[in-house]
Amino acid sequence: MKMNDKHIILTGAAGGMGRILAASLHERGARLSLVDANAGVLNEVAGELAGAHAIVGDLSTAGGCAEIAAAAQTGHGPVDVLINLAGMMSFRCYEDEDPAMIERIVQVNLLGAMQLSRAVLPEMVERNSGRIINVGSVFGSIAFAYFTAYSASKFGLRGFSEGLRRELYDTDIRVMYVAPRAVKTPLNTGRIMRMGAATKMNMDDPELVVKKIMQAIDNDRKEVYIGFPESFFVGINVRFPRLVDKALAAQNRIARKFAKEED
Ligand SMILES: NC(=O)c1ccc[n+]([C@@H]2O[C@H](COP(=O)([O-])OP(=O)(O)OC[C@H]3O[C@@H](n4cnc5c(N)ncnc54)[C@H](OP(=O)(O)O)[C@@H]3O)[C@@H](O)[C@H]2O)c1
Repeated sequence: MKMNDKHIILTGAAGGMGRILAASLHERGARLSLVDANAGVLNEVAGELAGAHAIVGDLSTAGGCAEIAAAAQTGHGPVDVLINLAGMMSFRCYEDEDPAMIERIVQVNLLGAMQLSRAVLPEMVERNSGRIINVGSVFGSIAFAYFTAYSASKFGLRGFSEGLRRELYDTDIRVMYVAPRAVKTPLNTGRIMRMGAATKMNMDDPELVVKKIMQAIDNDRKEVYIGFPESFFVGINVRFPRLVDKALAAQNRIARKFAKEED
């Protein structure tokens, strides 16, 4: 898909990947509606990209998503592309997880993407044109211990993407699901970084991941898994999940220690 002059909503635009993706889309001539809860950084990011419209909003409620969609449509007209990138994560033993955090993870990572898609879809259907790009995670195919709530939300996002893609199969609206492995961004707190080093977790630079996302958009891919061997293990986990249980057991023992630490 060509991005020049397309109206693109990008959520999570103030985040580690979001600000790089915003700049890449801007370079290609997109008209940007940049969304984030972090007003200070969002305004800074939008201020550097001529014509970009900053929308400070909260994706964790249906009302917040409707307001965001309306603000984007008022600013730049009908939405050509929605990129659901905003997300949040928690790394804890599930029995210690704050119930409010469980709710928020599902609200932002899954329901936020679903509600915003619902808000922009009628116009896409009317024009028989559009793209919805959901940024999931390898954890949306291989659930990881101590990232249980996060993994569940990303499994849901993958299911949502698959269902909506099949629903729109005979239209010119495409639904893409992109699943990076770990990326060096603020999403990964100090505890996660220390656990990642102790378990030798592969971590990509955000610039590389954004480049892969841009290539996926260029080529209208349906599902993209970023990083080897993680992409290979996605298939193994479907066919031989007990093998993956065993392969992850030693890593889980190390990770548990970090999951139990205070922030
Ligand atoms: N980093 C990784 O290892 C990794 C790996 C695989 C997939 N991903 C996925 O990639 C996406 C981007 O991650 P990232 O690494 O760029 O994370 P990040 O640096 O933490 O950025 C996420 C952005 O989303 C915003 N956000 C959170 N809750 C929101 C809400 N309710 N309404 C509006 N904005 C909200 C955050 O704002 P605040 O800072 O104010 O909360 C933040 O600016 C996420 O969906 C993540 O799950 C990341």
